[in-house]
Amino acid sequence: MKLPITAALIGAGRRGNVYGKYATKNENKLKFVAVAEPIKSRRESFANIHSIPANRCYESWEDLLSEDKFADAAFICTQDQMHTAPTLLALDKGYHVLLEKPMAHTLEDCIKIVKKVEETGKLLGVSHVLRYTGFFSTIYEIVRKGLIGDIVNISHRENVMWYHYAHSFIRGPWANIKKSSPMILAKCCHDFDLLFHMVGSLPKKISSFGSLMHFKPENAPKNAPEYCLDGCPAKDKCLYYAPRIYIDIIPQIQFMEKSDNKFLKILGKLRKNHVNFLTCISKLIPLLRDLRYYKDFPIYYLYTGQKEDYSDEGKAKILKKSPYGRCVYHCDNDVVDHQIVNIEFENGVTANLTMHGFSEREGRTLRIDGTKATLIGDFHISGEKIIFYDHFSGKETLVYAKKLTRESGEHGVGDFELIDNYIESLINKEKTQPLTNAWETVESHLMAFAANESRLKGTVIDMDEFRKKAYKSG
Ligand SMILES: NC(=O)c1ccc[n+]([C@@H]2O[C@H](COP(=O)([O-])OP(=O)(O)OC[C@H]3O[C@@H](n4cnc5c(N)ncnc54)[C@H](O)[C@@H]3O)[C@@H](O)[C@H]2O)c1
Repeated sequence: MKLPITAALIGAGRRGNVYGKYATKNENKLKFVAVAEPIKSRRESFANIHSIPANRCYESWEDLLSEDKFADAAFICTQDQMHTAPTLLALDKGYHVLLEKPMAHTLEDCIKIVKKVEETGKLLGVSHVLRYTGFFSTIYEIVRKGLIGDIVNISHRENVMWYHYAHSFIRGPWANIKKSSPMILAKCCHDFDLLFHMVGSLPKKISSFGSLMHFKPENAPKNAPEYCLDGCPAKDKCLYYAPRIYIDIIPQIQFMEKSDNKFLKILGKLRKNHVNFLTCISKLIPLLRDLRYYKDFPIYYLYTGQKEDYSDEGKAKILKKSPYGRCVYHCDNDVVDHQIVNIEFENGVTANLTMHGFSEREGRTLRIDGTKATLIGDFHISGEKIIFYDHFSGKETLVYAKKLTRESGEHGVGDFELIDNYIESLINKEKTQPLTNAWETVESHLMAFAANESRLKGTVIDMDEFRKKAYKSG
């Protein structure tokens, strides 16, 4: 296969545009030649950026994949419940596939995809971007070199920040299992994948507990209406009052205020305390316009095709009807808001994973204790740090540190490295599989589904039996 790889994009939403950005910055490696997207403005914008001709713009993946194969790969970036059908068809049509995580929202479908990859011999990569970050690849190298000795225990936390949880798992696309996936899969397939990667052994037993504890109607403020902007009596004290998050951008201001970067601190104060002054000077300085009319996560989710008006009035109008304007205690959410998982691996290592939606800041923390050393890692949007403690010498070393930058993405920028790795695998198809290939990925998904089953049934899951059963059903 020759560079640039040609690709068809299925789903030009948030993730699709991350891959789009890679292609614009790496024209010699990746070229999008088609797009399937039902939202006209998204489809047209993607087609314009990538100079895709009108006859290669489709309203849906079905239309795109009804044509004979015309590109090397399909990048599948639709929502969780719309992964399986386009992936199976694209593989059948002869495309290599880069698929967003989770592979599929049911275990049966994950297995179907693995079997289809085996049958067609095409390359499937899954977007477990965390493996490709500087932070987690540094940890992996330390483990691989044996510096920790034999790993004995890993304690890993996925601390979802309070507003992110509310945005995605109460008001947003991942709130309801019938429309999406269990939260332990949607949020933590990344974490299971990392644990599997670091431990280097199959999981043997899994148990899990957790529930939806807080975000229920009985915890709503008295007389809270269905939409925050319909006169909520708790508007001045509710953490989750929608305009606080989407208009006043309080979480972003808090990031800036907490940062050790003085410039960000000043910007945070300006946005919080001098918004009228900021409005005036932002007319002259583009950087300040971005701060005044903030468009980044989670704001862009407010717009699904309508004119993107980022003024306070424009956002308020949307919040009156949008799912993101709803009271967090009166939504159709049913996914957990906290869950813990215990894992015993076949090599004897034990690990526990805690996931919850009440964190003061967004990010993962972990500690790995081994026969020679301990490693403690902080992987937060506000900064990343790995400290290595050698038991014999008693020496403590900062082995990795990264501060918050404007580019710090939701996942510490592993996206471009993931695409590089996938393209390299396509070029050297005979020799390599993507790092996050179908077989590696399915183990993380098996763990997530097993954790969900254990939580619901109150049982310890024997992973060997669980895996065999899954392969029979898929
Ligand atoms: N790898 C990661 O770290 C990561 C991070 C966030 C989200 N995700 C996953 O990426 C996927 C997409 O998430 P997102 O945030 O980009 O969602 P999104 O809603 O922004 O994008 C999905 C797009 O698919 C489009 N779509 C709907 N029906 C379609 C059809 N029939 N044909 C073609 N396109 C169609 C939608 O209109 C939308 O634009 C999800 O599965 C999500 O879980 C992965």
